[in-house]
Amino acid sequence: MTSPLEEHYGYLAIAGRAELYQAAITQTITPGDTIADLGCGVGVLGLQCLHAGASHIYGIDYTDAIELARETMQRAGLDDRYTAMRDSTFRAVLPEKVDALICDHVGFFGFDYGIIDMVRDARARMLKPGGAVIPRRIDPTIAGVSSESARELARQWSEADFPPEYKWLNTYARNTKHAHNIEAADLCSPAVAVASVALDAEGPELYSFKGTLEIARDCQFDGLAGWFNCELADGIWMTNSPLAEARIARSNVFLPCLEAFPVKAGDMVGISLRFTSAGDMIAWTVTPPGGKPQKMSTWNSRILTQADLAADEGKPPVLDRNGRARLAVLALVDGQRTAAEIEAQVLASQPDLFPTTDEASRFIRAELGRLGL
Ligand SMILES: C[S@@+](CC[C@H](N)C(=O)[O-])C[C@H]1O[C@@H](n2cnc3c(N)ncnc32)[C@H](O)[C@@H]1O
Repeated sequence: MTSPLEEHYGYLAIAGRAELYQAAITQTITPGDTIADLGCGVGVLGLQCLHAGASHIYGIDYTDAIELARETMQRAGLDDRYTAMRDSTFRAVLPEKVDALICDHVGFFGFDYGIIDMVRDARARMLKPGGAVIPRRIDPTIAGVSSESARELARQWSEADFPPEYKWLNTYARNTKHAHNIEAADLCSPAVAVASVALDAEGPELYSFKGTLEIARDCQFDGLAGWFNCELADGIWMTNSPLAEARIARSNVFLPCLEAFPVKAGDMVGISLRFTSAGDMIAWTVTPPGGKPQKMSTWNSRILTQADLAADEGKPPVLDRNGRARLAVLALVDGQRTAAEIEAQVLASQPDLFPTTDEASRFIRAELGRLGL
């Protein structure tokens, strides 16, 4: 698992990103503005806004990164202008409405980390009427892909030297959105924007695209490449497009076909693509010239737990050992007991929930940490 330090070093180190956000902030923010930094991580976008003259930042993140943001602002003597909130943006309640929202929740395909719903919720609950949103628009874009490296991803479970028992996962791999670095040479058609998603205005919950891709060369059609063109502010664009010279280093997506097929220059391949504003579902259909439509969807690679299956069958849910342990901890959080007292009481009252007392202590501390205690 990546540590918060590694993860956020990765974001800060993306060449060119800070400059693009700086240009957007300079164009959008007026000195004295208040700003909500959604999914702020270690707080870097809020810090840029403070340097641009913002009067107060509400930095919101539900991971440990928020503690790094908090301490960074304290050490820099900026904590009187920075409120660090350890929370989900969907739950956080600000003491005032703000002049602008900022975030970099731009996924590999633009919308696929849930930026649309995150900003929609924050716009409704946190933003003053007419307030600004950075980024303001995302155009997710696709093109046909013919490339050995993408092909490898699509057939990784069926052709790798794994035990044959895992070959059934081939269908999952072909209904998966793969993170992949795609080069211009991997594309076999011109690019087409599948939507223009306004983040500063209301939009639908389901986006649909239908169109055709004209094939540029004789090759094997492996699937679709996806990327984003994202307008941070008027005329300031951030992109991970394989076709752009000035692209930021963020992966693209590869959406495979169930079966790759041969195409010739000038062929037309039919495409339809749908995605939800939550960013959690992408469905794509590829119709070969003169062939039958191939229907793929990330829904088909959803991993169902025993609880999901029980819910589908209408069975009453039952707490497992983890659930019972969580319940035991939560029942003791009353605003009076200290963490050490809760730990001692759970250990005494539930001796059989954990194999060892060390494991019990680790679990209880992690649970209290999740609650921010
Ligand atoms: C892509 S990182 C960006 C971090 C930082 N804003 C930057 O630009 O470097 C996204 C961050 O958003 C946080 N995050 C994602 N969804 C969130 C939500 N609904 N509420 C709070 N934090 C969220 C993640 O924990 C992660 O730190």
